[in-house]
Amino acid sequence: MKSSFRAPSNIALVKYWGKYGVQLPSNPSISFTLDACATETTLELTDAPGITVALDGVDTPSFVPKVAQFVDRIDARHPWVKDYGFRVQTHNTFPHSSGIASSASGMSALALCIVDLAQKLGHEVANPMQEASVLARLGSGSACRSVYGGLVVWGETPSVEGSSQDFGVAYPDAVHEVFRSYCDTVALVDVGQKAVSSSAGHQLMEAHPFRTQRFAQAHDHLAALKPILAAGDLDAFIELVELEALTLHGLMMSSSPSYILMRPNTLRIIEAIRGFRRDSGVPISFTLDAGANVHILYPAAFEQKALQFVKDNVKPWCKDGRVIVDRVGQGPVSLQQ
Ligand code: PMV
Repeated sequence: MKSSFRAPSNIALVKYWGKYGVQLPSNPSISFTLDACATETTLELTDAPGITVALDGVDTPSFVPKVAQFVDRIDARHPWVKDYGFRVQTHNTFPHSSGIASSASGMSALALCIVDLAQKLGHEVANPMQEASVLARLGSGSACRSVYGGLVVWGETPSVEGSSQDFGVAYPDAVHEVFRSYCDTVALVDVGQKAVSSSAGHQLMEAHPFRTQRFAQAHDHLAALKPILAAGDLDAFIELVELEALTLHGLMMSSSPSYILMRPNTLRIIEAIRGFRRDSGVPISFTLDAGANVHILYPAAFEQKALQFVKDNVKPWCKDGRVIVDRVGQGPVSLQQ
């Protein structure tokens, strides 16, 4: 018996940074689900016990511990998983060495396969999408936001009805047309292993001197985004999203021990984006994840101008001139025939 899903990555606008318990967020977050950056996974249940993982058709034992940990974490909700072996075949649609984390798309795809298989085996799943999000969260926190398209919120916050610590929810409030087709071109600055992992970064928030203010700020930012998203207020959107990105990296720089994941070219690209926006009036902006790459955000109507700017002023600062052109997507799809 097997199941196949394609699940996309996501990029947070208000960042999840800090966690407790089993992957519960210390603050709420909201993300755009992407389109081109995705993982395609087939999970086959086998009678023989054990886990095998093949990446692009090549046996990859280094992925097995992550899947084994995932199986251990979902065991309480899905005891049947221990009755089978797992054969996982997975493929990322973005380049392997891009420095783009595949954990969000990968864990979301795997979680969707589990929920599908549970149903095929005759187990009742009351709310399949919610369950897939819970399972994805247990695999890798921000993966829980990748089970839906568009804008997705994770973490309970008063301004978003139905928001939960346990799973992501499709953003339930009004969203202006401009944000439904927003573009994200990822400038690949550094494609190597990060100096400090996200898990270590989350952990450093536990004793962070600014944790209380930061967690309160994230709630405030979610609330502030509501009228911005409804009205399509690009100036306010840009200000808030860039502040979130720099706050994330500010938290890293003010952790103990402190660390820096931005590279000199990250700053060059940020400077170029702000300069181009000032000079041209094009509403182009940036966000960052926990790494050196820059996500360049702009409305679809400015795609041509933005891509010309990227070609002339961003690619020279990228590793081998590489960028990934992406946009907001519709969420995962089943790959079953
Ligand atoms: O889900 P994790 O543990 O990889 O953490 C993701 C953290 C950020 O990407 C920096 C922010 C976010 O909300 O996705």
